[in-house]
Amino acid sequence: MKKYVVYILILGILIGINGCRKKKAQVKKIKIIYASNMYPIPATEEVIKRFNAIQNKIEVVHLNLSGTTNEVHDKYETILSRRSHDIDLFLGDVVWVAEMAQKGYILDIDDYIKRDNINLSNYIEGSLKATYYKNKIWGLPIFIDAGMLFYRKDIVATPPKSWDELIEMAKRYKGKKGTVDGYDFQCYSYEGLICNFLEYIYSYGGEVLDSNENVVIDSKEAKRGFEKFMEIEKSDFVPKDIKNYKEKESENNFLGGKSVFSRNWPYLWSESLKTDLKGKIGISPLPKGDKKSAAVLGGWVGMINKSTKHKEEAWEFLKFLASEEGEKIRAIKNGVSPTYIPLYRDKGLTELYPYFKNPEFLKALKAAVPRPVSPVYPKVSEIMQIEILKVINNEETIDQSLKNMEMKIKDAIKSK
Ligand code: GLC
Repeated sequence: MKKYVVYILILGILIGINGCRKKKAQVKKIKIIYASNMYPIPATEEVIKRFNAIQNKIEVVHLNLSGTTNEVHDKYETILSRRSHDIDLFLGDVVWVAEMAQKGYILDIDDYIKRDNINLSNYIEGSLKATYYKNKIWGLPIFIDAGMLFYRKDIVATPPKSWDELIEMAKRYKGKKGTVDGYDFQCYSYEGLICNFLEYIYSYGGEVLDSNENVVIDSKEAKRGFEKFMEIEKSDFVPKDIKNYKEKESENNFLGGKSVFSRNWPYLWSESLKTDLKGKIGISPLPKGDKKSAAVLGGWVGMINKSTKHKEEAWEFLKFLASEEGEKIRAIKNGVSPTYIPLYRDKGLTELYPYFKNPEFLKALKAAVPRPVSPVYPKVSEIMQIEILKVINNEETIDQSLKNMEMKIKDAIKSK
């Protein structure tokens, strides 16, 4: 009997120890670092908090790298070119995928997608396409951006359909209801300038690269777009310091009640809910040139650092970021537009942001036009920034600028 009691006691202790071990094993999560930027921190932190709470193997820690897309790009370049594993995964601009893949900085995720049966048809095609390079997929689209026209509904009944109508209305309405400007946009010399510039070029039928990847920016269509861009840039209905405008300056000017119209990304509408202009802001597709209305495709993609020591864990978190739940948290907190299409029918979201359920809005997102896809895109963008700035500063004609762009972009592409 005694023996029997001792046996039970030992068994009990062993079970206890095993239980503790199990508990300890559960507590010891693998830590991974997720780097992101720009988009308001609370949304990112909320997504991370949720992920950390719903599983017990991985603990995600956020590294916030602040700055414009160009500044953050350079910070990633420093980390990734050293093949460092200081970060495990990160949020990158759609225009970086080709470059980062070509440089061997990021992991192709084809196998993970197949293994885990990720249904890619749930994602907006343009955003998804932007994650491909050389027939491989390198990331998952986390949210989509497309240039939109915002306007004051209390001043303007029907938004302009063409750039010429915008010009006419900006002149006519400037000064109404305390405004001082008719229109603002992003004209500082950085990636945002390229987005704005290309929206004019594309809307008049111009292109940077044709379907065979030939450089074709020096065209009469591109010239017409450039001329319209300059007509607006030089007008007296844009802020005097428009050359300093990035997204934030536009947001402050427009939501501060200073401008009738503004070009920005969809997040702006949700920001308007926090201001006195709540309920007074309309959102509409960008005006047309003589060919079409063309919003540039923007947005951000989750990518895994090829040098990470925690590929599986990074993938698990990436999957969550791009999942219905992950994208919904971000959209609710930031008002950014999901890439996960079923969310456009989600009541929780559409009640908060009614334009999400407007088929025209989703149509505009789906029609957004990509920037040139190239592993040397940052160089291509820099060339355009320099050449546009010369025209803005009256140091060069539009003709000369387009010629230079074409020549220099050809060289950049050749050198890749
Ligand atoms: C937004 C877009 C991004 C673009 C950037 C330009 O963040 O999502 O694609 O490059 O604006 O400022």
